[in-house]
Amino acid sequence: MKDIIEALEAKREAARMGGGQRRLDSQHAKGKLTARERIELLLDEGSFEEFDMFVEHRAHEFGMADQKIPGDGVVTGWGTVNGRLIYVFSKDFTVFGGSLSMAHAEKIVKVQDKAIQNGAPCIGIFDAGGARIQEGVDSLAGYADIFMRNILGSGVIPQISVIMGPCAGGDVYSPAMTDFIFMVKDTSYMYVTGPDVVKTVTNETVTHDELGGARVHAAKSGVADGAFENDFEALTQLRRLIDFLPGSNREKPPVRPTFDDPLREDPSLDRLIPDNPNKPYDMLELIEKVADEGDFFEIGKDFGKNIITGFGRIDGAPVGIVANQPMSLAGVLDIDASRKGARFVRFCDAFNIPIVTFVDVPGFLPGTRQEYGGLIKHGAKLLFAFGEATVPKVTVITRKAYGGAYDVMSSKHLRGDINYAWPSAEIAVMGAKGAVEIIFRADIGDPEKIAARTKEYQDRFANPFVAASRGYIDDVIMPRETRKRIVRALKALKSKKLENPWKKHDNIPL
Ligand code: HXC
Repeated sequence: MKDIIEALEAKREAARMGGGQRRLDSQHAKGKLTARERIELLLDEGSFEEFDMFVEHRAHEFGMADQKIPGDGVVTGWGTVNGRLIYVFSKDFTVFGGSLSMAHAEKIVKVQDKAIQNGAPCIGIFDAGGARIQEGVDSLAGYADIFMRNILGSGVIPQISVIMGPCAGGDVYSPAMTDFIFMVKDTSYMYVTGPDVVKTVTNETVTHDELGGARVHAAKSGVADGAFENDFEALTQLRRLIDFLPGSNREKPPVRPTFDDPLREDPSLDRLIPDNPNKPYDMLELIEKVADEGDFFEIGKDFGKNIITGFGRIDGAPVGIVANQPMSLAGVLDIDASRKGARFVRFCDAFNIPIVTFVDVPGFLPGTRQEYGGLIKHGAKLLFAFGEATVPKVTVITRKAYGGAYDVMSSKHLRGDINYAWPSAEIAVMGAKGAVEIIFRADIGDPEKIAARTKEYQDRFANPFVAASRGYIDDVIMPRETRKRIVRALKALKSKKLENPWKKHDNIPL
């Protein structure tokens, strides 16, 4: 028996060594952790249970029959994050560059299936060179098997990808279909085709980082939802994100006790809105003053900055927060903000997370760049997402709510459950100046008349009371009471029941 146990330990040790000490050292030299170290950091200490440590590839061509490494380039299994079940796979770059063989794919598919069946998040850590070139079509089939689980698991369990090295070719499309993508600055990059192919096809010269680095995807393309300094920061932040999420769409998000008084008032909020309606203020200040303990986990911080999205807790229960940010482009809705907001709202709705919306929006961004880019379709995504969402929806208009953007931002008309406005709210078709220049075009040459008309329009419409008189606003509240009122609103909506008509699926304007 002793021999058998020793043989087992030797086999385990061989698997733990991945592609060998030299390659493990080279991984560290690049500033990256190894596949196993990443799992250890992500999960609670000692909670990892590994599957398929002894799986080997079955390829023969190109001398592969003699090159077998137990585990075959991916470490898979399950464990816990703050005591809650999580499934995980972590690509091992030290084994054939983390490339994907059929056996490697089967290991990933196994944890995806288990996560879906058992209702737990599935986390993928990527650091790989794409399809195992020696395996050919088997590798492509393996990718498609993974893609199918991403698709079927979408909206059923949270799926999160962390890119911690190369992620190219076939590897990009699985993360693309997951709910959130995190990247690590300087050591990770993601693209469909690399710099060499780009040079051949388009004659552009770009580096890996310029083409698909963390900053590019977190700020320009919006493919990534966060860019972190190193593996450690990315994984600790991922643990924080997981704490807000339910295991699956069959559960409510996890409530945790808070020391923050649900009735807490914040008098400083009465002074948040500047006297000049064109002066910006930081919407993050409001969010942090309303959320439990000021804790807010922002999603997509560097992309579409004119809209803020992220998770917080209100009286212990997670909420998704969507807010226009007057500090960036005056909080206008453009293509990027609409796409970012829509995807976030749909995530919250799929996973039973109530949505709190703070509105200060002057409208949609005009211009050829926006129109040629399809602002109509992209803006409609946000409209569609808010409208179809059946989770509790609480909206607070702090200042501007103009035109179509008023409708879009979780208005009463899109089944907002409780809609509040601050006394500073201006709910109108457009700002007074623009309105007067259209309806009193004949007076444009007469500045005195225009000023009088503008004041008249301002007095009549730049307030929350016209909307409140129609019942489109449930109450006009003092800014200092915002947290208390949201706490009460969400409590009243705890058992909300609302279903959309049966359909195979909707046809959101993609
Ligand atoms: C097999 C691979 C591999 C691959 C890397 N390796 N990629 N083995 N299949 N796809 C091996 C290398 O041979 C090397 O082995 C080790 O991994 C490390 O690779 P290096 O090139 O030395 O590392 P580095 O210089 O850091 O470069 C990383 C890299 C590069 C940029 C990812 O390896 C690379 O370009 N790989 C090929 C990428 C690619 O074209 N993949 C196929 C995409 S097509 P040794 O033994 O020396 O350590 C695709 C289609 C799928 O994915 C579509 C499905 C829908």
